[in-house]
Amino acid sequence: MKRPAFANWLSDTNDITQTFLSAGQISGLINMAGGLPDPSTWPVSDLSDLAAAAVAQHPHEALAYAPIEGLPVLRDLIAQRFSVHGMRLTRENVLITTGGMQALDLIGKVLLEPGSLIAAQSPAYLGALDAWRPRQPIYRPMRLEANDFDPVTALTGVQFAYTVPNFSNPSGRLVSLAERQALVEAAHVTGTWLVEDDPYGTLYYDSAPLPRMLTLSAQRDEGLYDGPVIYMGTLSKELAPGLRIGWVVAAPNMITTLVTAKQGSDMSTSGLSQRIAHDSFASGLTDHVLPNILSLYRARRDALCAAMKAHLDDLFDWQVPSGGMFVWATARDASMNTDHLLREALFQGVCITPSSVFDPEGQNRRSIRINFTLNDPDKLAEGIRRLTVAARATIAKPQ
Ligand SMILES: Cc1ncc(COP(=O)(O)O)c(C=O)c1O
Repeated sequence: MKRPAFANWLSDTNDITQTFLSAGQISGLINMAGGLPDPSTWPVSDLSDLAAAAVAQHPHEALAYAPIEGLPVLRDLIAQRFSVHGMRLTRENVLITTGGMQALDLIGKVLLEPGSLIAAQSPAYLGALDAWRPRQPIYRPMRLEANDFDPVTALTGVQFAYTVPNFSNPSGRLVSLAERQALVEAAHVTGTWLVEDDPYGTLYYDSAPLPRMLTLSAQRDEGLYDGPVIYMGTLSKELAPGLRIGWVVAAPNMITTLVTAKQGSDMSTSGLSQRIAHDSFASGLTDHVLPNILSLYRARRDALCAAMKAHLDDLFDWQVPSGGMFVWATARDASMNTDHLLREALFQGVCITPSSVFDPEGQNRRSIRINFTLNDPDKLAEGIRRLTVAARATIAKPQ
């Protein structure tokens, strides 16, 4: 019996994903490929107390279908948390989502037609490319650091610009204050939307956080926020990804449009998770766990970069990131193919992510993304030792 074919966009995926799926079977593998938090940072007993209290004390919020746009108490709390002097937010500016991933999906649903243009910070987050692939957009890469980068030209004619300004996934790059201001200015001039995806905004290891583009884009003292930024936050990196709690802060008409799309997606984000998220913020739990997360990840970043300096210095260039979860390294040898390096690395028992998956055209094969948050310093050092063997083998082998 011949069954109906799967949709066309599925043939447009990268075969590296298959390689990753099979990597799960390798015993003793050191996984430096993902973007996973260390489970030891999860406040398990506090969260189980909050979960029990949520069900016992707020059964109608925790166990019923929640409102599509989110529990009012959580929307109010997010509005208050992201308000700053001169920018007024209310719950009308806030949508609760099932993780940041759902926000990406909904943004694609409400803004993209086949062939729509997206100006995307390059290299770009794989999850965003995955979320928008079924809508068949065309990408205009933005290299914010290039001397000739002109934000107004970049944003002209696009449906939206997509950026991860705090320690980008995958590049770990921090977008400077001047670059943020220029992007915001260009969004105002061109009238387009500016998506600010911010899962790593609390993970600053060396300095105080820069202002969000959301804040920079507020027209001072003009009432409720109605600017061009679609800000996305998540609890995945600052508390626990399994809660699947994210939020969008944006102009009220964008929020109501996203609500329409969310209705046909999952109807509502788990009320239990929303209640736990609310109580985690309100009780100070999120603020309480942050210093421990920062010192753990800062030490791991330092351990990874020390091991890279000791072993990989003649093979790769990289910048030490001042936050986030990743180091982005580019091979000195332009002929290095990091898709091939991944296969050698798996053979040596270590997994990293090659740059091809972060390029909408799949062309960039010279860089790798290395995660430093999941493994302890000894494992990171051993992972880099294995990666070095793999890199030398890749260079030695004509492909
Ligand atoms: C840049 C970026 N956006 C969005 C997400 C989605 O996160 P979540 O769905 O867990 O909130 C991630 C996760 O790694 C990310 O790195």
